Amino acid sequence: METSAELETGLEGFRYWPGALAPSDQTGLLDQVLAVVAQAPFYRPETPGGRPFSVVMTNCGPLGWVSDRGGYRYQPHHPVTGLPWPAMPARLLALWSGLTGEAEPPDACLVNLYRGAARMGLHQDRDEADLTAPVLSVSLGETAVFRIGPAGGGPTRSLRLASGDVCALTGPARLARHGIDRVIVGSSQLVPGGGRLNLTLRRAAGFRVS
Ligand code: SIN
Ligand code: FE2
Repeated sequence: METSAELETGLEGFRYWPGALAPSDQTGLLDQVLAVVAQAPFYRPETPGGRPFSVVMTNCGPLGWVSDRGGYRYQPHHPVTGLPWPAMPARLLALWSGLTGEAEPPDACLVNLYRGAARMGLHQDRDEADLTAPVLSVSLGETAVFRIGPAGGGPTRSLRLASGDVCALTGPARLARHGIDRVIVGSSQLVPGGGRLNLTLRRAAGFRVS
């Protein structure tokens, strides 16, 4: 059966759980994410072409997604501190198993912070070894204008992702093109100092790392 998000975007396999996290769950998760950030501070990555991202990033879990002049990849340590990424918060692991039903836990969680005019261009998530596992995305803080369209090109649709919303790229939508056009500054007071946090949970290493 199609979910409402599938009807809204016309993309089979795109799943959307608006308000999946109640306000108290959002503050609980935020505290765990701020503890991650205290150990693994945000840094500003560069594209392989040498342009700085407008979002700042960090990661938690065994592997973290990084970008620099060497390209896009997953690695087990923070590129600035050289330390291993902090453990993935228990609340994120529970959300993954509860919503995706996957037996295997995620091994990577990218944490993006959008402030002001930060955005993310249309792209596909394809740096993972196993492209059959879903990508689960959690939004905290200011509302984002999210854009998504089919993997092979064609029209995109936009959808607002508010604090506590969760969505997933699964099955035929796993390689959907997606990005963030902008965030609506001032739409939430949740994140200290303002902005939007996006947590993207993935299985990066396929079956090679557990
Ligand atoms: C991403 O695709 O890496 C981030 C998407 C988002 O911020 O919602
Ligand atoms: Fe992405």
